[in-house]
This record gives sequence, structure tokens and C-alpha cells, in this order.
Amino acid sequence: MINNTLQKKIFIETYGCQMNEYDSELVRSILKKENYEFVTDELKADIVMLNTCAIREHAHRVVYGRVYHIRHLRGKDNPVMIGILGCMATNLRQELLENRNLKIDFIAGPDSYKRLPQLIREAMDTGQKAYDVTLSEFETYSDITPSRKEGVNAWIAVMRGCNNFCTFCVVPYTRGRERSRSPQNVVEEVRRLSDEGFKQVTLLGQNVNSYRYEDYDFAYLLEEVSKVDGLERIRFTSPHPKDFPDRLLEIVANNPKVCKHIHLPLQAGNNRILDLMNRTYTREEFLGLVDKMRALIPHVALSTDIIIGFCSETEAEFEETLDVVRRVEFDSAFTFKYSQRKGTIASKKYPDDVPDNKKTDRIMRLNDLQKEISYRKNQAHIGQVQEILIDAASANRSQDQIPGRTDGNQLVMIPPGPYKVGDLVKVRITDATPHALKGAPMFPEET
Ligand code: SAH
Ligand code: SF4
Ligand code: F3S
Repeated sequence: MINNTLQKKIFIETYGCQMNEYDSELVRSILKKENYEFVTDELKADIVMLNTCAIREHAHRVVYGRVYHIRHLRGKDNPVMIGILGCMATNLRQELLENRNLKIDFIAGPDSYKRLPQLIREAMDTGQKAYDVTLSEFETYSDITPSRKEGVNAWIAVMRGCNNFCTFCVVPYTRGRERSRSPQNVVEEVRRLSDEGFKQVTLLGQNVNSYRYEDYDFAYLLEEVSKVDGLERIRFTSPHPKDFPDRLLEIVANNPKVCKHIHLPLQAGNNRILDLMNRTYTREEFLGLVDKMRALIPHVALSTDIIIGFCSETEAEFEETLDVVRRVEFDSAFTFKYSQRKGTIASKKYPDDVPDNKKTDRIMRLNDLQKEISYRKNQAHIGQVQEILIDAASANRSQDQIPGRTDGNQLVMIPPGPYKVGDLVKVRITDATPHALKGAPMFPEET
């Protein structure tokens, strides 16, 4: 039994998307207030929490593997409590609760983090699994200040949940309905972040541009956030193609603080598949939106997400996805093999009938095409002058190269110099690979 009276040490590991990263910061804040301490060495922890993702099958397997590994590592003499947080907690609650081989002490879904202190105590006191996976229509954690790591960028969740029910996707079930924080509340937090020295904020939401609070929409929020002094850059992710009114595009185009980068998830390039996915747009509408974005926001960087091998996708339909990728020339793409998820509409209505070897073949062809496009687009940057923000996360990794990001979110490596994390540096692009650029800092007389 774990000693109940001493200050407990927690180790938290985060999987999945930025929303989960943000949620782990909320969890840190909630539990620090209750006198828990966070440690970076899992062997020193009394409690290990895994903040999990359920988006694809692989994510599950990794977490199960981790639980067995932790138990094995610690053995009988050095017990540890294990808690499962995040999207697996809601998606697999039954299995997590009933699987006797998987020794878990507590389970908390994405809307139950304020109850964590209680759940941990309950599990300690009773020795039974404690759990709360209730989804809320209201919880936005707007009264919690996340305990963030230092750096250039601060994540800030402005809305949570998703109402779109794309048929392949588990998120509407794991995170519940859409709800947004008030603009005042978001702006106050951004002001505080700017005072603390953060140079960039990334507004987060499962459908960030579906943000709505009373009569205020996402365009309004973006504009209000951009008025905060001291902030250099504003990003947002992930938007849905269905929510891009002209006013939002105009703000991205004209507001100097809003980065000229849009993540625009395509998912598929064939209309029958898009319809089966319930994406609510056609390939023609998607291409039309891209044209409009490029007309209004010259040089806008576009990235995307694509799923290949969705239920009943034929070779010809997949080729239409390749065709859209060729036409749009995204700067980068995240590509995924379709992975059937329990509870989703697709899992009930459509068989997962594209064989895995076909999925592998298609994703490789798609990746080859995208690599070629990214390389070509990166090469075209050579000779250009770009302003980069020196990036915290990786600045210590390598001594001979310093990483920064362009406004379009492209990685640029520069030789070491007198730069601090968070500095804006003007560089001339000197070289390019499919994944990154190289730059040389400009001297004042050159600029
Ligand atoms: N809210 C975001 C998506 C979050 S999930 C949005 O709508 O853009 C990130 C990406 O994972 C999705 O865009 C999709 O490409 C991929 N994805 C989601 N469910 C998946 C599944 N069942 N199989 C494979 N990829 C999936
Ligand atoms: Fe999932 Fe679709 Fe919602 Fe994105 S918009 S989280 S892909 S259901
Ligand atoms: Fe994964 Fe949940 Fe994010 S399923 S991608 S952690 S919203």
C-alpha cells in the first residue's frame, strides 16, 4: 500500500494531439494546488498518469504496452499507482474497468480533471478502481490557469469537443459536444501569457473555427487576441474547411500578427468517400476554398491531414486524392491509414475492407508525391528573406544548428549566434530539404 500522508510525486506522460498537451498542463495545475509534486523520472513517482489518445489503433496498443511495462519495471517492492486520462478513458471505459490483467487504479475522462484529487484519494483509500468519464456540456476549464513549461509558444484551448461526427472519428465520443470560452476570458489569459514572456500563442480546438460564444465568432476572437501587446505571432489549429467565412480569411490576410499558415484537413479527394466520411464538402468546394485562400492571402502556407484506405475506397478514388494533392500542392501533409474505431458511425455502417497491403501501397505513393512537392516548394524558398522565431523546444538539442520557424511554420536551421529563444531573426534561406530549410542570418546593413 502506498503511504498516504507524505507529499506524492506524479509522473505524467502525454499522447495524442496538442489538446492533450494542454490538458496535461491543466492537470499539473489542478494537482499542484493539492500539494502533489511533478517529477520527470518515472521511477521516482508514486503515481504515473498516462494522458491517452484513441484516434488510431496504434495509440491504444502503445498505452497498454506502457502499463504492463511500468508494472514490470516497478515490481512488487516498489508499487506505483497508475491512472489513465484522456480519450482512451472515455472510449474504452468498459474494457479499462473490466480487464483484470490491466492493473489500473483510476480513470479520468477529458471533462473530469477537476475530480482527479478525489479520484486519486478514493483509489488510495479503497484499493478499488476509481473512475469518472462523464462528459460535460459546459466544462471549459476557463477558471484554471495551466501550469505551462517555459518556451516561446503557449497553447490555449478556446473551445472543446466536436459536433461534426465525421464517420471515421472517435473524438465526438471521447470529448463530447462543442463549447467555447468567453472572449474576455481568453484575452485575459493571453495578456497574462504575454506578460510572462510568451511570444506566440496557438489557439486550440477540435474545430477551432467553430468557436462560438454568444454572438462572438472565431474571427472576432482572433482579432481581439491580436490586440494584446507583446505578442508576436498567433496560430490556430485545427480548423474545419466548412467554417471559413471571408471575414476570417481577411483577418488572416491583413492582421500582421496572425501567421499566414492554415491547416486545412482534406481527408479524401473523392466525393463519394467524402460523403461516406460525412465531411460536408465536395472536392470542388475544397479546391474552391484553396483558390480563395490563395487569392486573399498571397503566399499562405497550407498543410493538411489525409486518410487513405477508408471503407470501400477504390484505386480510382484514391487516385482522386492524389490528384487533389497534386493540384493544391500543400506545403506539408499528415497522412494516415484508416483505422477503425469502436463506437464510430463507420465502424457500425461500413466494413473496413481495404486490405492492409493496399493501404500501405497507397500511403507510400501519397507520401512519395507529397515529399516531391514539399521538396520543390522548399527549394523555391532558396534566396528569400524570412523572419524566423527562435524555437524553444529544440534549441538545446543541437549545438551547431539553431532552429526557428517561419511565419508559415517551416523549420529553418541557422548557425549558432547570439540569439535567445523567442528572438525574431531575419535570415536568407540558403538550402532546402523536403522537411526543413537552412538559413543564414542577415546583417543589419543587408536588411
Ligand atoms: N479535429 C481535427 C482532427 C483531429 S484528429 C480536424 O477535424 O481536423 C487528426 C487527424 O487524424 C484527422 O484529421 C484525421 O486525418 C486523422 N484520423 C482521425 N480519425 C482517424 C481514423 N479513424 N483513422 C485514421 N486516421 C484518423
Ligand atoms: Fe473528428 Fe471530424 Fe470532429 Fe475533426 S471534425 S474531431 S475529424 S469528427
Ligand atoms: Fe487523440 Fe483525443 Fe486528441 S483521440 S488526437 S488525444 S482529441
